[in-house]
Amino acid sequence: MRTNYCGKIDTTQIKQTVVLCGWVNRVRDHGGVIFVDLRDRYGIIQVVCDPNLPEVFVEAEKLHQEYCLKVTGEVRPRPDGTINTQIQSGYIEVLCHSLEILNPSLPPIFALDDDHLAESTRLLHRVLDLRRPYMQGNLMLRHQVTKEVRKYLDEQGFIDIETPMLTKSTPEGARDYLVPSRVHEGHFYALPQSPQLFKQLLMIAGFDKYYQITKCFRDEDLRADRQPEFTQIDIETSFLSEKDIRHICQTMIVDIFRKLMHIDLGEFPVMSYHESLSRYGSDKPDLRITIELTDMTDLSKDVEFQVFSKASQSGKVVAMRVPYGGLEISRSDIDGYTEFVKSYKAKGLAWIKINSNFDSKSEHHASDDLFQNTGIPLHALQSPIVKNLSTQFLTQLLQRTSSQPGDIIFFGADESKIVYDSLGALRLKIGKSDFAKKRNLFIEGWKPLWVVDFPMFEWDPDEKRFVSVHHPFTAPQEGHEDWLESAPEKCLAKAYDIVLNGWELGGGSVRIHKSNIQQKVFRALKISEDDANRQFGFLLKSLQYGAPPHGGLALGLDRLVTLMTKAESIRDVIAFPKTQRAQCLLTEAPSKVDAKQLRELHIRLAN
Ligand code: AMO
Ligand code: AMP
Repeated sequence: MRTNYCGKIDTTQIKQTVVLCGWVNRVRDHGGVIFVDLRDRYGIIQVVCDPNLPEVFVEAEKLHQEYCLKVTGEVRPRPDGTINTQIQSGYIEVLCHSLEILNPSLPPIFALDDDHLAESTRLLHRVLDLRRPYMQGNLMLRHQVTKEVRKYLDEQGFIDIETPMLTKSTPEGARDYLVPSRVHEGHFYALPQSPQLFKQLLMIAGFDKYYQITKCFRDEDLRADRQPEFTQIDIETSFLSEKDIRHICQTMIVDIFRKLMHIDLGEFPVMSYHESLSRYGSDKPDLRITIELTDMTDLSKDVEFQVFSKASQSGKVVAMRVPYGGLEISRSDIDGYTEFVKSYKAKGLAWIKINSNFDSKSEHHASDDLFQNTGIPLHALQSPIVKNLSTQFLTQLLQRTSSQPGDIIFFGADESKIVYDSLGALRLKIGKSDFAKKRNLFIEGWKPLWVVDFPMFEWDPDEKRFVSVHHPFTAPQEGHEDWLESAPEKCLAKAYDIVLNGWELGGGSVRIHKSNIQQKVFRALKISEDDANRQFGFLLKSLQYGAPPHGGLALGLDRLVTLMTKAESIRDVIAFPKTQRAQCLLTEAPSKVDAKQLRELHIRLAN
């Protein structure tokens, strides 16, 4: 029906006759002449309807927002003074020769250019929301990303193979979405949490480089970066090392950012899990924030302050220096932060401010050991806890953290998980505050990294057993096999995560390809042979037919595009997402079903 897209017309088409189709973004009646902003997926163009053409004008008078039109007209330069340099088509307009209303529209529920809509309104009227240039741009970028991914992986020799959606429970650690079987009474399929086991089977089958851009389903608590159904760029390879696999993935991401955003991500630093946790309190550190943690556990054993001395016995005492925090952070901010860390189970938030207005030449500093060691006198330290800390502790604290007058130091003292969770979260909170940006504690940009050397297992206090940090098919590092049963906590995995600006973008591992090692891992996880056979017997059996060394990873496509678009939520890059409560407001899923459907599925509701 059309010759051109509205948003793609530019000065090169002047004097041409074009046929356009689109929606009325706005109509303005300027004393006789009617201007219509016509919109399609690439942008807006101004259409001029002149009263000298009565057939056109009569139709133009009927127009309202979101009417769907077909316009034929001539492209011409805009008169001086009406040029809009902000948009591609701002130098031209189309003089309408004929106008056909393809379909009128009800008045839209909201103005499409309203940037302050409640998300529930947007999701309920998703079609109108998706018409907005912001959402059109996001979904078009998503398309570009998947196109580049396919192109890159195809060039690298990867084969796209589909795996089942109706399958058996997979071990990624979330709750499954179940689908009852009509044919097999009392039996259920699970929707895949990932294609993990199938992609391993494909390696055993000899495909050697597999990929798939595929939906995964996990029934877990939802957050800004999580959806119950989401998309993975899923990759598996044979005969490649951990480094090779990381290289393929890194090159792909660098390629995408270069092609689609003109950004050079450079070489990704590689950091061990241990270093990441001890410097940033997180295994997905946001390296745009320069604030770091410092371990003080070794010096806390003998201090008078019991919160520290007790924590140092079986947990950790960790300091977090915030440069300029002494100047920028008020007492009520500290109270707020203390409440904030409590939500991560911290019992308090000790702090020391280093005042900057002291006289460094004063006589009595001569006897001040702290001043002799650090140039900062004891009385410059303002804090309820300083009197209970030794000079040795304070000296080391100031030296290790490189603290300066004007700073504040916060402390976490507890079991290490609580300390890292709470200080890690506080680091993000302070690091993203306005003052952090002003004081260069937050540097805008792109900060990717690999986190490697994850532990194989973590202790689950509820289940009273070790559980896998990645999944039970992850291979231990060379030489760590012997600890699988004797000291599982010491075992490191050949696992790696890719992190970008504080988001876990993807993760993967080299897999176990020998059944005897796999059995040992199951034993470490206290998974009985019967249970293992029942759940993944098909994999264990297949491993015995000459399974090749293999490994891979999966990237969260939704998260990747969210970061690229700088959207606030993953929902802004998904056409029809679910709410935080896992509902689709548009279709009203989940919903009740007919009693007949339930009967056929052999299901009776409890109430
Ligand atoms: P993992 O569980 O780490 O690994 O998932 C890989 C990536 O998928 C994304 N992701 C999510 N995105 C949105 N919503 C969710 N609920 C969600 N859950 C995960 C993240 C994450 O990094 N089979 C392994 C991969 C492998 O070992 O090859 C796996 O699924 O970006
Ligand atoms: P208290 O001894 O309870 O008066 O606490 C003194 C200071 O230590 C206060 O600032 C508390 O917030 C802080 N504090 C208490 N428990 C902890 C803890 N486990 N970790 C860090 N700081 C704490």
